[in-house]
Amino acid sequence: MQNDAALANENAADSPVRSTSYDLEQMLEQNGYMGVIGKCRCMNQVFQLVERVADSDSTILINGETGTGKGMVAKAIHKRSYRSNKPFVSINCGAIPENLLESELFGHVKGAFTGATAAKTGKFEIANGGTIFLDEIGDMSPDLQVKVLKVLEEREFEPVGGCKSVKVDVRIIAATHRDLEEQVQKGHFREDLFYRLYVIPIQLPSLKDRITDIGLLAEYFVQKLNHEKGTRISGVSQDALNHLIHHHWPGNVRELANLMERLVVLKGEGEIGQDDLPEKIKSETQSGLSAHSIELSPDGICLNTAVSEFEKNLIYQSLEKTDWVKNKAAKLLQVKRTTLVEKIKRYELHKCA
Ligand SMILES: Nc1ncnc2c1ncn2[C@@H]1O[C@H](COP(=O)(O)OP(=O)(O)OP(=O)(O)O)[C@@H](O)[C@H]1O
Ligand SMILES: [Mg+2]
Repeated sequence: MQNDAALANENAADSPVRSTSYDLEQMLEQNGYMGVIGKCRCMNQVFQLVERVADSDSTILINGETGTGKGMVAKAIHKRSYRSNKPFVSINCGAIPENLLESELFGHVKGAFTGATAAKTGKFEIANGGTIFLDEIGDMSPDLQVKVLKVLEEREFEPVGGCKSVKVDVRIIAATHRDLEEQVQKGHFREDLFYRLYVIPIQLPSLKDRITDIGLLAEYFVQKLNHEKGTRISGVSQDALNHLIHHHWPGNVRELANLMERLVVLKGEGEIGQDDLPEKIKSETQSGLSAHSIELSPDGICLNTAVSEFEKNLIYQSLEKTDWVKNKAAKLLQVKRTTLVEKIKRYELHKCA
C-alpha cells in the first residue's frame, strides 16, 4: 500500500510540472537509489537491472552522456552487492597521463623507473575483495587496454618493474561517455576488451529524454539544498518548470543540479519563478509554450515551431504515462492510433532502451 508521499511522488513522476511539496527523506527512500533519483520508465529499468546484477559479480559497462549519473550508479551497484563492506576504488582513465596510469592501476616496485623511490600499491590491489570502477575507459591507450584485458581474463597482473604476479578478486565496473562500439569500428578500442566489458551494459538516459523526471529532480535538489545550506525555498513555479523541460541539458543532471544550487543560493527563500532563470534558458523556450504559459513575447514567435514543440511534449508525456502502449496513448490524446504513430515517427520519439 502506498502512502500519501509515495502517491505525491508518483504524480510528480508522471507530470513534468510541479506537484505537491516533498519530504527529502521520503523522496530519497522511495525514489532514491543511493541518491540516484528517477521515476521515469528508463530509470526504473536501470534500477531493476542494478538490483538483478548487483550480486552477480559480472562485469558491467555503463554508458551515458556526461552528468547522467554513471559514477553514482557504479557506486550504487557496489553498495548493493555482497562486496559492499570492501573497497570501492575509482580511477578516471581519461584524466591520468598514460605513463602514470599503468602504475596507478597495477602499482610499481621500488626502482621500477626514475623517481620510483618506494614501492606503490596499485588500484587493482587496493580494490581487492571489492569493486574497481574504471571510469572513462574509452580514453585508455591501446597498450594499457591489453594489460587490462589480461586482468579481466586472469584476475592477475604484474606491478610495473616487477616479475611476481599479484592475484586479485575484484568486480569490474567500467564507464564511458563514448560509443565504444563505434570506437571499436574505428580501431580506437580493442574488440576483445570491448566484448570482455560488454557483459552487462547499462545505458543511462540523457535528461532531455526523461523530461518527466525534471520536476522531481528540481524539487529534490531544492529540498536537499535547503537542508545543506539552510535556505528556505518553497519550490519551483510551474512557469519556471515549463522552461526547464524545454531546455536541452547538454550537461544532464549535473547541469540541473548546478543550476538549482545557483538559484537556491541566490534566492534564499520563496518560490523560484521564471524570472529567476538564466536568460539563455528562458529564451530557448520562446517556442516552448505550455498550456499554462501562453504569452506572446514582444519579439513575436514562430507559431509552427511553438505548436510542434507543444505537440511533441504532450505526445511524449502520453507515451510515458501509458508505458508506450500506443492505443492507450492515442486515447489519452483523443487521436487515431495511426495519427499518433505518424507523429511519433515525425518527432523521432523513442522509448529509452
Ligand atoms: N539520477 C540522479 N539523481 C540525482 N542526482 C544525479 C543523478 N544523476 C546525476 N546526478 C547529479 O549529477 C552529478 C554527476 O553525476 P555523475 O558524476 O555520476 O555523472 P557521470 O555520468 O559520471 O558524469 P561524467 O561523465 O561527467 O563523469 C552528481 O554529483 C549528482 O549531483
Ligand atoms: Mg563520472
